[in-house]
Amino acid sequence: MQVVILPSSESIGDYAADVILRGVAERPSTGHMNTGHMNYVLGVATGSSPLPIYEALERRWVPELAAISAFALDEYVGLPYSHPESYHSVIDREVTTRLRLDPSKVHVPDGFADDPVAACLAYETAIQDAGGIDLQILGIGGSGHIGFNEPTSSFSSRTRIKTLTPETRRDNARFFSSPDEVPLHCMTQGLGTILDARKVLLVATGEKKAAAVARAVEGPLTSMCPGSALQLHPDATVLLDEAAAAELT
Ligand code: F6R
Repeated sequence: MQVVILPSSESIGDYAADVILRGVAERPSTGHMNTGHMNYVLGVATGSSPLPIYEALERRWVPELAAISAFALDEYVGLPYSHPESYHSVIDREVTTRLRLDPSKVHVPDGFADDPVAACLAYETAIQDAGGIDLQILGIGGSGHIGFNEPTSSFSSRTRIKTLTPETRRDNARFFSSPDEVPLHCMTQGLGTILDARKVLLVATGEKKAAAVARAVEGPLTSMCPGSALQLHPDATVLLDEAAAAELT
């Protein structure tokens, strides 16, 4: 695992945008030799941490970006797609619009599906059909979650329904008009799904993330800190500001 400490959120956004734009530029010449899929596939996260990445990509937009596909990490269960805080809406606002992506190539788990189990399976199939995720952007929660894989998540888990912890519901209450409005359940890519991405970039800023970052990067591999699963990934980079890096040894 590579840890990069940068001076600001803006520099983190630029660093990540460099990596993504390089990947997108390389794709037409390399392609997926075995599958024939040519589109670069970006795994996108919601929340505050990745916003500087989307802003940097918007500033430095190149036409090749319009051809990429995107898969979101997670979605609340039971929130209508049109709710401003559903991840369908957030991804549309922060990713699809800013990066001028083709909406038909942007996928978000279907937390409003009549058959959620079938929707989870369909999401896994859609990722495979797209040729797998080239680069997965991640944030980390105070609980150590990545995606909405809360503590006790299996390292081999796939897209499924999870119960949000009280800590995550409290953290995300800032996006809703009252804490009770935060849904109880979510649909999230599993840790196994995330580990299948060819490259992962985890972003964390601010002192509130320092303990979770230290447990994920330097702690033992444990499902009690789902972020620690990234220690198993062959190409994982953690982008931090000084405050988020403060508890690393
Ligand atoms: C979002 C997600 C979560 C967030 C995490 C950090 O799609 O999967 O894991 O990345 O909760 O959220 P922020 O960045 O808002 O602190």
